[in-house]
Amino acid sequence: MRDPRTERLAAWYGANARDLPWRVPPGDPTPPDPYRVWLSEVMLQQTTVAAVRDYFARFTTLWPTVHDLAAAEDAAVMAAWAGLGYYARARNLLKCARAVVSDHGGRFPDTEAALLTLPGIGPYTAAAIAAIAFGRPAVVVDGNVERVMARLGAIQTPLPAAKPEIRALAACLTPEVLPGDHAQAVMDLGATLCTPRKPTCMLCPLADGCEGRRLGVAESLPRKAPK
Ligand code: ADE
Repeated sequence: MRDPRTERLAAWYGANARDLPWRVPPGDPTPPDPYRVWLSEVMLQQTTVAAVRDYFARFTTLWPTVHDLAAAEDAAVMAAWAGLGYYARARNLLKCARAVVSDHGGRFPDTEAALLTLPGIGPYTAAAIAAIAFGRPAVVVDGNVERVMARLGAIQTPLPAAKPEIRALAACLTPEVLPGDHAQAVMDLGATLCTPRKPTCMLCPLADGCEGRRLGVAESLPRKAPK
């Protein structure tokens, strides 16, 4: 039996998913393209959805497949990345595309463990690709997810010590069915309602079971250890 919070979140996502160019809308049976999922997740590391949109469109127009990107000139890719920042990501992007072509026959590997071996793919990105592109019930935890989980469970331990508790709660809620939609639902909730300041609990599908809200401490969570 799935956690009732997972059900409520899935229903909310069905009606409220953000329309993003790399996303297959909920209910659409089209299989996701792992290349587009990977490209978007690498771009979204440390960068907002608003900033990524145009870059994602430009990259997928210039290089529609991982083969095209792997064959690109380094300078062309660095030029197309200019403005997104964190340029190590662009260098790793090319290395990763070339590794997928040379070592994996042009197909992204479909497990978290294998994805983790590729350049520029860390634990978050490996889990996100495994869930979104390949339907694996990977536990996907980024900053948005940390905030949603810390509030839902009223986790008072400050970050980063709270990470194991946060991950345990995220794991409890991760479904076997449509785990990619679930991961994106938590991220959308964190980006649109469960915001760092002034969360919109009135519209939240998880408000009923949210311990942070019940205790009146949601906005103060997650706590951060003093630097
Ligand atoms: N942030 C990082 N990846 C995301 C995704 N797939 N959907 C929404 N927000 C995200």
